[in-house]
Amino acid sequence: MSDLNKLTLIDGNEIPAVGFGVWQSKGDALITAIQCAIESGYRLIDTAAIYGNEAEVGDAIKMAGISRENLFVTTKLWNDRHDDVENAFNESLERLKCDYVDLYLIHWPVSGQGKFVDAWNSLIKLRDSGRVKSIGVSNFSLKQIHQLESATGVIPAVNQLQIHPFNQQRELVDWQRSKGIITQAWSPLGHGNENLLSDPGIEAIAKKHLKKPAQIILRWLYENKIVPLPKSGNPTRIKENIDIFNFRLSPQERLFMDELDRGFNVGNDPESFN
Ligand code: A2P
Repeated sequence: MSDLNKLTLIDGNEIPAVGFGVWQSKGDALITAIQCAIESGYRLIDTAAIYGNEAEVGDAIKMAGISRENLFVTTKLWNDRHDDVENAFNESLERLKCDYVDLYLIHWPVSGQGKFVDAWNSLIKLRDSGRVKSIGVSNFSLKQIHQLESATGVIPAVNQLQIHPFNQQRELVDWQRSKGIITQAWSPLGHGNENLLSDPGIEAIAKKHLKKPAQIILRWLYENKIVPLPKSGNPTRIKENIDIFNFRLSPQERLFMDELDRGFNVGNDPESFN
């Protein structure tokens, strides 16, 4: 991935414009998939404590033919550790076999628990200690980001959300863009949703560009400065999902994609998820 395919975070650090998601992948199959991803040009690997695969991610990083500084590693704090961040982070670091992570996120706000501001204070300390380069959140609402800012004066560099054409969360994403907060997209392919991947309009755009529907979706996210984190265990699709830098969508095609939004949620609801 060239320098052109990076975005700059509000703290000045750079982040690759596309990443490799590893939710629901484990064992040797995951190590093989990460090796394939790195060979295909991915430089960002997105894991989380709850995925139960940080150890395999760490093994794959050790085996990668490139240095740690050339990789961008994200992991996330799980919900039951909001008041035990230092220990939770050290455990993640140990499993990852790394000295630092590039990005550490609070995985869910779990607002009923009422501890995410305390957790955010602990993330700020971790960043100040140098063991985390950038800090952010995932599945946070605009109101919850305001709460972080008013309590600490620090806004997250990233908010990772479920974003795909059927669930665009435009108001929040536009606001984040205006503040310089980078939006990352989990389940950018709608978790493989058939209706999305075989939408006739997306298929027609794909045919015109000699690309696959998934590539049209990922390109549309990239053109919106949203960092997609597609997951795949299939070498052909792993390669396909990062081969999106050699074509451009027309304004009409972008408009068509924008109009596919229907608030369709393929995961947990951030408001109620505990
Ligand atoms: P597979 O691992 O067999 O490739 P998401 O990242 O939105 O959660 O989507 C992940 C799902 O989409 C997985 O089931 C994955 O299956 C599938 N997938 C990943 N890339 C593609 C692609 N290029 N075309 C079709 N399906 C894909």
